[in-house]
Amino acid sequence: MLSGKKVLVIICGGIAAFKVLELIRKLKNLNADVIPVMTPSAKHFITEMSVACLSGSKVYSQLFDLTDETEIGHIKLAQSADIILVAPATADFMAKVAAGICSNLAETVVAAASCKVVMIPAMNVKMWDKKANQRVVSTLKDDGFDFIGPSRGEMACGDFGDGRFEEVEEIQNYVEQFFQPKKLEGKRVLVTSGSTLEIIDPVRFISNRSSGRQGVDIAKALNAYGAEVIFISGPSSVKPPVVSEIINVETADQMYEAVVAQKNIDVVICVAAVGDWQIKDTSNNKLKKEMNKELKLTLIQNRDILKTVANLKNRPSLVIGFAAETQNVIENAKKKRVQKNCDWILANDVSRGNDTMGGTFNKVSLITSAGVENWPKLPKSEVGFRLAQKIAEVI
Ligand code: CTP
Repeated sequence: MLSGKKVLVIICGGIAAFKVLELIRKLKNLNADVIPVMTPSAKHFITEMSVACLSGSKVYSQLFDLTDETEIGHIKLAQSADIILVAPATADFMAKVAAGICSNLAETVVAAASCKVVMIPAMNVKMWDKKANQRVVSTLKDDGFDFIGPSRGEMACGDFGDGRFEEVEEIQNYVEQFFQPKKLEGKRVLVTSGSTLEIIDPVRFISNRSSGRQGVDIAKALNAYGAEVIFISGPSSVKPPVVSEIINVETADQMYEAVVAQKNIDVVICVAAVGDWQIKDTSNNKLKKEMNKELKLTLIQNRDILKTVANLKNRPSLVIGFAAETQNVIENAKKKRVQKNCDWILANDVSRGNDTMGGTFNKVSLITSAGVENWPKLPKSEVGFRLAQKIAEVI
């Protein structure tokens, strides 16, 4: 996916440097050319040998290295990159870059770069929050540097807060998105995602096993393709995507209202596992067990969001649904496509034990009026990119 792309990774001296080895491995798996540059202090944390082995490249670290300067030179090194990732970006490194200091090769490369430079900071929360550091961060943002993270959590020193090195998967997503041709630029795409919950009383509800991961991964892929994504999600255990608009809902009714309120949508993708029923008489007070030795709930059917959108007068030009099935997957999904009047249905088997609901992989079949296309078992992120690509081909 990143064949021919040159990713220059500047490794600074911080405890999170060991995580960069995994990042390099992931980038290599995507076929990127990784060019590593280490600051002198980075070598206190990880070895040049590990970096060279994983990247399959020479490790650059000396500014005044005669051989390097005659063979490539720091300006050429900076100019050869399609993107530069500084990982971990330390407070010291960022402050020097913000001040225009070029005291080592890594700083000089950043100064000489004309591609996007991305800071991936990692430091103690107190250092991150310090006014001086925040001034540096805002200067760098004003100067056009991108930031990934830091995230919030427990630090190596035991403190808790902002300052953790972002998850490698998130960094990989950023890089993939960065290089993705923006084939869906100007298109407004609505994605429903997650589960829904139906209220029994103030503390109890009925829901389902959907994690929301497939919806999130589809939204991320569409965003990477340049689409304006409106993401309407019920409860989900997965971090939401960074997209144009996020609307959080709980019940199927709320999701329905949020969806039909949207205007000028080009594509709708209903990934949400919408509850089919709601409780007829929800209780405003907590139901007491003494008074309900046997509890009978009457369930009434929810409105079908996908079917409603697909039958609108001014319907979006492409309406896509999912079919969660446990039996006769393809046949049932074909029927659903026709009954709901949608253009495409992605059929998947959600039987217990096959790990589709709640897992990170999915095996889907794309059903259109032209027939059935069986996709192999793929990471949900890959299903997202394939779908975005398919949409880009027809819209
Ligand atoms: N869907 C919807 N609104 C509902 C129910 C389902 O928008 N009230 C959408 C889902 O987001 C999915 C598609 O319809 O894209 C099919 O959902 P699925 O759960 O597979 O089927 P149902 O229509 O609910 O039918 P059944 O549960 O009987 O299989």
